[in-house]
Order: sequence, then structure tokens, then C-alpha cells
Amino acid sequence: MVDFSLTDEQHALREMAHDFAAKEIRPVAWEFDKEGTWPAEIIKKAWEVGLMNSHIPEEYGGPGASYFDGCLIEEEFGWGCSGIGTSLAANGLAGAPLLLGGSEELKRKYFGMLVEEPKLAAFCLTEPDAGSDVSGMRTTAVRKGDKYVINGSKCFITNGGYADWFTVYAKTDKDAGHRGISAFIVPKEAGVIVDKKEDKMGQRASNTATITFNDVEIPADHLLAEENKGFKLAMMVLDRTRPGVAAMAVGIARAAFEFAVDYSKQRVQFGVPIAMHQAIQFMIADMATDIEAGRLLTWQSAVLLDQGKRNTLASSHAKRFAADAAMKVTTDAVQVYGGYGFIKDYPVEKLMRDAKIMQLYEGTAQIQRLVIARETLLPRRVDEPAAAVA
Ligand code: CAA
Repeated sequence: MVDFSLTDEQHALREMAHDFAAKEIRPVAWEFDKEGTWPAEIIKKAWEVGLMNSHIPEEYGGPGASYFDGCLIEEEFGWGCSGIGTSLAANGLAGAPLLLGGSEELKRKYFGMLVEEPKLAAFCLTEPDAGSDVSGMRTTAVRKGDKYVINGSKCFITNGGYADWFTVYAKTDKDAGHRGISAFIVPKEAGVIVDKKEDKMGQRASNTATITFNDVEIPADHLLAEENKGFKLAMMVLDRTRPGVAAMAVGIARAAFEFAVDYSKQRVQFGVPIAMHQAIQFMIADMATDIEAGRLLTWQSAVLLDQGKRNTLASSHAKRFAADAAMKVTTDAVQVYGGYGFIKDYPVEKLMRDAKIMQLYEGTAQIQRLVIARETLLPRRVDEPAAAVA
């Protein structure tokens, strides 16, 4: 039976995340956006109330929440401020390769660090010359005895400037394309250099950094999964994290929609609130449909994961649709505000700037379409258990 209603526990979780977003995130969101302020206090509070690290299993001290529950939280973060929300949620991305490919010892140690203190981890895949084309990466990891030596540079790394450990992808066989990439846990103290904090169009309260590894030595047992299985691991990670990104995009769209609805009831033109004009009503109607549809695709992609099924196609549908919808809804919200929408004193221009990154990070809108086309033209079974990395 298909049932879209939430359980009492899920209602309570969503309410708690919403309260947190309303009380802790919203009041500072526009101010933090202006200055690009790092939300250190909010991270600490979110950690204290148990809204961070939702996917760390109970045996490693985490809440062991489902992917679906994670999406409920991330929608509320996105509604509050997706820049701050991204800072709060990025441990999930960095932790996913560890969850899928880490040894028991690595999980205890590195998940332990995140649950014992409000610490951060960062996911290092992208490079200046390898964005969508992951296998074009140049960072190398060379095995020397019981160590790997890592050299290279990664860019656009969320929380990079504040992370205590990193999941790093590097070439272990330069001539083997995507089959020559491996993934590692690299602790900050191994000598990771934070080069540059990016000055961004949107999500300005999140930290996006360039990270460099110059002869960084790590123990050989910090390899995740098997050598040369890193590409597949990265793809499996993104299948698991794109639903959360989609949820955050739904949250941004919902915020813009609510502002637009309220404004349309107050703003009077031609003698009536503009909500009385069909031109505005149709925009509001399309926004509402896009939000509902984005949420349903998001929920489906997360539920498949919770059922242990492969969700590659559903995950790309959700990320693609919800990100494009967030861009459209926020742009239309600016339109509903008219000239005021373009002014920084009003709330919606920030949301439009924030929405843009949803079409870029964790796979661009075009990459999602590529995945959807491939999965459609050469379908893989979606009911098989989530594939093992090895
Ligand atoms: N699960 C498991 N295996 C998968 C898979 C999946 N979802 N997708 C592909 N694979 C496997 C394939 O079966 C294939 O296996 P074999 O080696 O056995 O043949 C292998 O991986 C290679 O697959 P492709 O031929 O499809 O690989 P490709 O080079 O054409 O790339 C791609 C495919 C979809 C374009 C991929 O490179 C991709 O997703 N690129 C986007 C990367 C991305 O999202 N980057 C964002 C970085 S994270 C971020 O944004 C950071 C942040 O801080 C927010």
C-alpha cells in the first residue's frame, strides 16, 4: 500500500527541525548572508539537539536516522537558510564513503569524532580540471610501505576550512581512468592545507574552500573499500546524498513561496491585492505544484534507499527536478515582489541566489539529465539491493 502520511515520530522530528530553523537559523540568515558569516554557534546548537550527523548508525553513537528522516530535516534547514543548512548537512556527504567502505576501526574513530564533539568533515572529489568529469582527477595517492602519500588539490570543498577530517579521492592507477581511483580518510593533522575560501553568489554562510595535499602521508588502512574502487564508491555516495540536496531545494522553494503568498495578499495594485490578479494566481499555483512534485520525488528517492534498493534514477529525478523547481520558484517569487524583489531589503533575492547552487553542486542539472537518460536508455534494475562497493 502507498501511504504518504508521516508517523507520529516523523511529525515530531519535522516539527523539531522546523522549530530549530525558525528560532536559530532564520533570525540570522539574511545578516549571515551579507557578511558570509560562519555559523559556528548554530552548528554547536544543532549538534547538541541531535540534528547533525543523522545518518551515523547507532552503533557508532549516531541517531541512525533513515534517509527519509534526513530529508525531513534537510527540507527545514533549506527553509531556514540553505547556506547554513549546507554547513549543517555536509557531514552526511563526507561520512557516506566511510559508512559504505570504511573498516570497523575507521568508523569507530572518525564517526566517534563527529558524535563526541561538534566537529566537521569534508568530501573532497572535485578538482579545478575535474568537475563533472570525475575520472579526470589528477590528485594521486602512492602506496609506500604501510602508508599512502597524497599529492594534489581539490576545489569547491564544503566546510573545507573547518573540517577535522576529509574523504579524499585520488588516482592510485593513473592509466586506468575511473577504475584507477581510490578513496581515503585523511585527518586534518596529516598536513592538509586550506588555501582559499570562495566568495560566492549564494549560500554565503557556508564555507567553500580549496584544499591542497603536499606529500600528505596517511596510514594504509585509511583506504576506503578496495584500491581502485573509489569511483563506484563516489557514485554510490551521490545516490545517497542527492535526495537530501533535493529536500533542501524543496525547502528553499517553500520559503520563497511563503514570502510570495504573503506579499501578494498585502501588495495593492489596480485597487486590489495583487493576489486577486490571475497573472499572480497562476504563478502561485505553479509554485505550489512544483513544491509538491519536488517533495514527492525526493521522498520516493529516499524511501528506495531505506528499502535497500538502488535509487540512482530516482535520486537524479529528485535532484534535477527539485533544483530546477527551486530556481524557478525563487525567480517567480522575485517577480511577484516586482521591483522590490530585486532589492536586498526584501527577502527573496537571497533565496534566488541560494537556489542557483542547487543546480550545480552534487552533480549539475545537466549531469542529472545524463544519468536519467542513461538509466532510461540502458535501464539497470532498481529493485536490486544497493550494490556493494567491492
Ligand atoms: N552506482 C554504482 N556504480 C555506478 C553508478 C552508481 N550510481 N554510476 C556509475 N557506476 C559505475 C558504472 O557501472 C561503471 O562501472 P564499471 O567500471 O564496472 O564499468 C563505472 O561506474 C563508470 O560509470 P560511467 O561510465 O557512467 O562513468 P562516467 O565517467 O561516464 O561518469 C557521471 C558518470 C554520471 C557523469 C559521473 O561522473 C558523475 O556523477 N559526475 C558528477 C560528479 C558530481 O556530482 N560531482 C559533485 C561533487 S560533490 C559536491 O558537489 C561537493 C559539495 O561539497 C557539495
